[in-house]
Amino acid sequence: MLGRLNHVAIVVPDLEAAADGYRKMLGAVVSEPHIEAAHGVRLVFVDLPNTKIELMEPYGEASPVKAYLEKNPSGGMHHVCYEVADISAARDQLQRQGARILGDGKPKIGAHGKPVLFLHPKDFFGTLIELEQA
Ligand code: CO
Repeated sequence: MLGRLNHVAIVVPDLEAAADGYRKMLGAVVSEPHIEAAHGVRLVFVDLPNTKIELMEPYGEASPVKAYLEKNPSGGMHHVCYEVADISAARDQLQRQGARILGDGKPKIGAHGKPVLFLHPKDFFGTLIELEQA
């Protein structure tokens, strides 16, 4: 079912400081910040040869990553995103095996304009997994 690792998302308390750290200390190529209002985050992409890292901070009061930052004030890894060829087929197969899909179980358009789903971390050993249709 799983294809490439699309990205790893890291929640940070200060996006500019995090972008600066990746640029200056790690020598990474970092995009300009942009806002994903529908997802409640402001983020930058760190381009790596084989994947990308998303550094994100909460945007707006209803941000889904706000509570995460309250529990982890210095930031931390939030989710990993794997690519799948057919997101509806992947969802059906996972649900048949008892895995829980977050929200209403319908794919949403994610930060890259492609359909995504999130799987319950308790079903996957403590890691929040995003599936994205490649
Ligand atoms: Co993501």
